[in-house]
Amino acid sequence: AGSSPAFRASIRGSEWRMDARQMKIKAAEAALDYVEDGMRLGIGTGSTAEEFVRLLAEKVAAGFRIQGVPTSERTARLCLELGVPLKSLDELPELDLTVDGADEVDRRLRLIKGGGGALLREKIVAAASARMVVIADESKVVDVLGAFKLPIEVNPFGQIATLIAIEKAASRLGLAGDITLRTSGDGPFMTDGGHLILDASFGRIPDAEALAADLNAIPGVVEHGLFIGMASLAIIAGPEGARVLM
Ligand code: 5RP
Repeated sequence: AGSSPAFRASIRGSEWRMDARQMKIKAAEAALDYVEDGMRLGIGTGSTAEEFVRLLAEKVAAGFRIQGVPTSERTARLCLELGVPLKSLDELPELDLTVDGADEVDRRLRLIKGGGGALLREKIVAAASARMVVIADESKVVDVLGAFKLPIEVNPFGQIATLIAIEKAASRLGLAGDITLRTSGDGPFMTDGGHLILDASFGRIPDAEALAADLNAIPGVVEHGLFIGMASLAIIAGPEGARVLM
């Protein structure tokens, strides 16, 4: 007997979701190869990083000793739930390795991050780490950064002035596009640090270094989602398996 078109569509949808999750798991599994017993480990945020936390928790349960520094309250909650031992970055200010996801990665390992709103802590933790391993699926690999809206974390004070300053800085680099305040439920999305996120639809960002420098120079900008020169390698999972970009 034939199934209805809606039923077939929903089956196809769930197959697709399983594939996407399997790829995240594949990337997370491959990242475990870089984790050594006794390491001080930065632990990223997002659905791919959460697969890594689940696999890490199994290793911890089997006797593997690591000390984790979470990049968000969300990641901290999952680690605590699964028994992954945590320290604060103040307790462990120098880390061996951070494993984190990304929204975009280009072939020079430049990233856009912050889709999950954790970019500030993610960048602080990655900067405190000797190495950063990015875990992602093929859909995140791009030739030129910018199809994903660039998250920019701003102080709530003077947010309109900061928005105007961002527009002017972007325009000097030939970039334009909507910049919108990220919302959650009825109000603005608030980061773990109590800041706001502006999502900038610049489209292609040919000179990510220049944009990063100009955004850093705006006082109301707390941090932005361009991670440049931070990733040591990226594990990219696709339907055929995982490959390493370095
Ligand atoms: C959170 C991030 C995430 O790493 C990024 O959004 C990727 O998330 P996901 O693995 O769910 O696609 O930067 O701030």
